[in-house]
Amino acid sequence: MRKRKIVVAVTGASGAIYAKLLLDKLVKLQNQIEAVGVVMSDNAKDVWQYELGHQDYQNYPFTFYAKSDFMAPFASGSAKYDTMIIVPCSMGTMGRIAAGISNDLTTRAADVILKERRKLILVARDTPLNLIHITNMKTVTEAGGIICPAIPSFYSRPQTIEEVALTVVNRIIDLAGLDDDTYRWGENQA
Ligand SMILES: Cc1cc2nc3c(=O)[nH]c(=O)nc-3n(C[C@H](O)[C@H](O)[C@H](O)COP(=O)(O)O)c2cc1C
Repeated sequence: MRKRKIVVAVTGASGAIYAKLLLDKLVKLQNQIEAVGVVMSDNAKDVWQYELGHQDYQNYPFTFYAKSDFMAPFASGSAKYDTMIIVPCSMGTMGRIAAGISNDLTTRAADVILKERRKLILVARDTPLNLIHITNMKTVTEAGGIICPAIPSFYSRPQTIEEVALTVVNRIIDLAGLDDDTYRWGENQA
């Protein structure tokens, strides 16, 4: 199987733990991956610090790009990044993607992934949703994106916050087409 080229964008929605656990998984699954490029918004860094109490995103063995770096490879379809995961995805970023406003690296990369008909996964987070959010989710879905809300499941009986958050991250890994040995309904005993 061809190794994957993945963009991870972290935005300023609540749920930095989802980004952290996803990046941890990508480290673990590096044998399936050729490249991981990461871009964070300013609010993503603030929320990470506020919610997790550290800045450990600086320690990952991936290439980090500035949010305005349009020279990043995945700002162009020719670099052939096949998957983009926005985790967590703010309603603001989702709205800009739905409207085609490619005014930073995250929204430009999402625009590229959609035009190239590749895989875009938005781990959208807010509650409750207004009609603008719902309409934007519909628009992104019609354009080929996947809305994967940051909504945990409980049938695997998670015991810790990390285990709860992993129920979302494991679905993201599945959607991204990466192989991982995780809880499967019907195969695992709770
Ligand atoms: C602690 C904190 C939590 C937030 N949670 C959310 C959220 O869950 N969903 C959301 O859409 N915005 C949330 N926001 C607001 C976004 O950070 C803000 O709208 C920002 O402009 C989004 O821009 P970005 O997508 O470029 O990060 C939160 C902000 C803070 C400070």
